[in-house]
Amino acid sequence: MNDATLGPRALIGLLGDWRSGGAAYEDLAARIRLLVIDGRIAVGTRLPAERELAARLGLSRTTIAAAYARLRESEHLESLRGSGSVTRLPAAHITPLHPTGADSLDFTKAALPALPWLGEAARAAAERLPAYLGDPGYDPIGLPELRQAIAARYAARGLPTDPDEILVTIGAQHAISLLARTLIGRGDRALVESPTYPHAYEALRGAGARLVAVPVGGEPGASVHPVGDPPLGDGEAIAEAIRHASPSVAYLLPDFHNPTGRSLTELDRERVVDAASAQGTVLIADETTAELDIDRPFRAKPLAAYGPAVMIGSVGKTVWGGIRMGWIRADRGLIRRLLAQRAPNDLGTPILEQLLVSELLPRMDDILELRRTQLGERRAHLEQALAERFPQWTVPHVHGGLALWVHLGAPVSSQLALAARTHDLLITAGPRFGIDGAFERNLRIPLGFTAAETERALDALQAAWATMGGAPVVDADVLSAVV
Ligand SMILES: Cc1ncc(COP(=O)(O)O)c(C=O)c1O
Repeated sequence: MNDATLGPRALIGLLGDWRSGGAAYEDLAARIRLLVIDGRIAVGTRLPAERELAARLGLSRTTIAAAYARLRESEHLESLRGSGSVTRLPAAHITPLHPTGADSLDFTKAALPALPWLGEAARAAAERLPAYLGDPGYDPIGLPELRQAIAARYAARGLPTDPDEILVTIGAQHAISLLARTLIGRGDRALVESPTYPHAYEALRGAGARLVAVPVGGEPGASVHPVGDPPLGDGEAIAEAIRHASPSVAYLLPDFHNPTGRSLTELDRERVVDAASAQGTVLIADETTAELDIDRPFRAKPLAAYGPAVMIGSVGKTVWGGIRMGWIRADRGLIRRLLAQRAPNDLGTPILEQLLVSELLPRMDDILELRRTQLGERRAHLEQALAERFPQWTVPHVHGGLALWVHLGAPVSSQLALAARTHDLLITAGPRFGIDGAFERNLRIPLGFTAAETERALDALQAAWATMGGAPVVDADVLSAVV
């Protein structure tokens, strides 16, 4: 349970264009249920009082009461005496690894399968383990040889780094939440791009931040990384937002941004670090998807090469998501604060995992080349298949990253994602990537899947799209059965 309350204005923002041709109370209940299911409304959130919401929506109180009753029936809402109506998930709700059965496809993750030679590297790591078994094994900062190897990669990218400036974490997500807990005080402003990686803004919000969103990625559906120098764009927008809001931290995805795939130019990076330095904003640059350049060897300089910035890295997208290992590069003072903050939550990164990554880091150039080939083939296939099957959608040509941020031409992303579930495809609706209900016209389609998996997913999307017709309708009973 959290103690969040959603006011009528905020809820209406999240609802977006929720009417889909059915009875108003059914449509309203269906949309709120989807928002709870996909995490846009946290479980335990108090919804507006019926009368208040009715007035704001211009509907009768009876309609709102009927919608809330519907949500209570499907166990997505609980009315507590004295506390109003609070969102919840049904008791039967579980999120197993394969949520809708063995045949379902999970396109909610934009990731790649493990490296083919991971098993071999794991065996080599296991052979090195005995040398460490005499120690207690708790390692809050990271093995010296691994921190050395991570520092050397930054140095090779034009950012001299001392191993003392590296803290090894349990993946990039852990790095984000550790930084959020360390740097953010309740009510501080945190700037995020919009759209962005949802679990990052959740972590920032969870640490007490008030989010400030800056729109990035160009016009919806526009090519997000045109050949040649893009016009003044995201960098200026981010710098301007930093100057205006003076946030404590700004969380950015400078390269192959998730989900749009766009990258900041050098000029963008200069502008952003200048604005942040002037305002005392701590920049956090998440490079989890950065190295996945499809068209050429990755060569962008880290944001911290332009001015003060905390860097986050991970092997989750290059090696495998199942290896929970990432890192933070920061000045020594912040590394000390992070170490102090870490202990109450976890006592260090597994040694075996670290040995495995230290086996793999020297081979990173080969790993990235393999990923380039894989992603290049998969991008070509996905682009062609989308052009054939969905000529009415706008599909940007991205130069790297793990997804296409497709523009659907109509605000139907939630309904499409929901209908796709009935065809055994889990896919994340566009608004999940925004903080205010925007992006109902966008869908993130991962490009890391095989041709066969992609074809099956597109079959499901096509079938879902066909059922929606001109006025998509989602059956409220289907909603309660999904996830
Ligand atoms: C931008 C971004 N940051 C962080 C993460 C989480 O990375 P990790 O698996 O290393 O925790 C992801 C995973 O999707 C991501 O896309």
